[in-house]
Amino acid sequence: MTTFISPQQRVTWQSLQASANQPMAHLRELLKDPQRAERFQMSAGHLHLDFSRQRIDTHIWSQLQALATESDVLGQAHAMARGDAINATEGRAVLHMALRGANQPTPPWGQAISQQVTDVLKRMLAFADTFYNGTAKGHTGEAITDVVNLGIGGSDLGPRMAAQALAANASPHVRVHFVSNPDAWALHSTLRGLNPATTLVVVSSKTFTTQETLTLANSARRWLLDGGVPERALGAHVAAVSAAVDKATAFGVLPENIFGFWDWVGGRYSVWSAIGLPLAMGIGSQAFRAFLAGAEAMDQHFLSAPVDQNMPLALALLGVWNRNFLNCPTHLISPYAWRLEKFASFIQQMDMESNGKSTRVDGEPVDTATGPIVWGGLGIDGQHAYFQLIHQGQHTVPVDFIGVTQEDTPTHALPMAAEHHRVVLLNLNAQAQALACGRDAHDTAQSLRAAGMSEVDVARLTPHRKLRGNVPSNVIWMDALTPYNLGSLIALYEHKVFCQAAVWGIHAFDQWGVELGKTMAKAMESGA
Ligand code: F6P
Repeated sequence: MTTFISPQQRVTWQSLQASANQPMAHLRELLKDPQRAERFQMSAGHLHLDFSRQRIDTHIWSQLQALATESDVLGQAHAMARGDAINATEGRAVLHMALRGANQPTPPWGQAISQQVTDVLKRMLAFADTFYNGTAKGHTGEAITDVVNLGIGGSDLGPRMAAQALAANASPHVRVHFVSNPDAWALHSTLRGLNPATTLVVVSSKTFTTQETLTLANSARRWLLDGGVPERALGAHVAAVSAAVDKATAFGVLPENIFGFWDWVGGRYSVWSAIGLPLAMGIGSQAFRAFLAGAEAMDQHFLSAPVDQNMPLALALLGVWNRNFLNCPTHLISPYAWRLEKFASFIQQMDMESNGKSTRVDGEPVDTATGPIVWGGLGIDGQHAYFQLIHQGQHTVPVDFIGVTQEDTPTHALPMAAEHHRVVLLNLNAQAQALACGRDAHDTAQSLRAAGMSEVDVARLTPHRKLRGNVPSNVIWMDALTPYNLGSLIALYEHKVFCQAAVWGIHAFDQWGVELGKTMAKAMESGA
């Protein structure tokens, strides 16, 4: 086994630390450079990253790239694509890229894996289309109008987020609902409006042992039976998605309604697998394939773009700079598109469950900060809630703004849709600029004077009304919120998280921390 070099011992890490120790101009000064916007931006497919508002200069940017090279981040990415068992504590490969790259003529993970993926995908999409098209029937012969997905964590957040994000592609025949919480009210408030005869329940669980999901599944089964679905006809109303097909079968799901996946798909990376079934039912196979294609395009970019033009790597390095050198403990995800309402929660699991680690791959304790606290929600709403702390509180909170340049709300449905879009984008641009530039005491005093305030009030209010600024942010733009672009956006973050783990030298694909609570709940249940 080769000796592991800790990040702190890397030459490039030390030179970054030296740069961080030097005073640096305020973003308001840096942004006066007319070349800056051009220098700190890059594109990948239909996504565009503007990182001109990060607290970096060209020297730091090249040092960060050198850190990526010294840490062999892209070499580690190729090991993942080859199917090396990089999830070493579980002895597993990590192949979510295979789920969207099964059409490649010579896939790095081998044809056998691609064949398995293709077989399940074909079967799952054919099944999904019967719901999307409104041709799937329940036991009375009536069409299924509602699908209820029962799952939690990675078996919920991805399809739930994407189903809302792709509302423009939603089927007119079927509504898809998601229930993750075992509190009875969660299931009750979804089921109370539904008719068992026209409802399909999908039990989504990689392990098929998760207590919360099985509680929901048993309760939903009972609701179907009590609601008049004969036991012998339950097959028309229950489907399952799991890597433990035997357990789904034992639960009583018909073999033709069970869609499998594999231990090399992590829960939080599983939306591309059969876990995407409820999403595919809602948007149809064509849109689901476009979603996969967008992710695959980002994979190709990630595996082939050089270090200085590699978008996931850039996001990761900027995050490392903010986390380890500017010492920012949190990271805000702020989409300015209502359909991305669940995006921050989804990325929160992906990032925090992956990089919330304190032990390095060589078993030693880490000597650097690792994954930040990732949080967020819709930008415009956040402006009227927690943005105050970001503007004037004591933490520096780096932000990822996410914006969609084109408006696609049907104008026949909402004639003023273009005006809505204008307001949303205006606010995104204003917040990014206000956070970066702030307003110093001089400008604040001037603006108060201009508003006609007395010198006494100017002196009294200026300290309260000046804004420090210098808050670093990215803006990730996409031209339209399509299945393809959403696929690219998710894959962008997946690879970002991977790259950060590669720099920090931690395992991104296990989650031993969450296992203890599960074990304890089981032990308490059995009275141990
Ligand atoms: O408890 C965390 C977790 O293990 C996640 O990693 C996973 O996505 C979720 O639980 C659900 O697990 P399952 O799909 O096996 O029910």
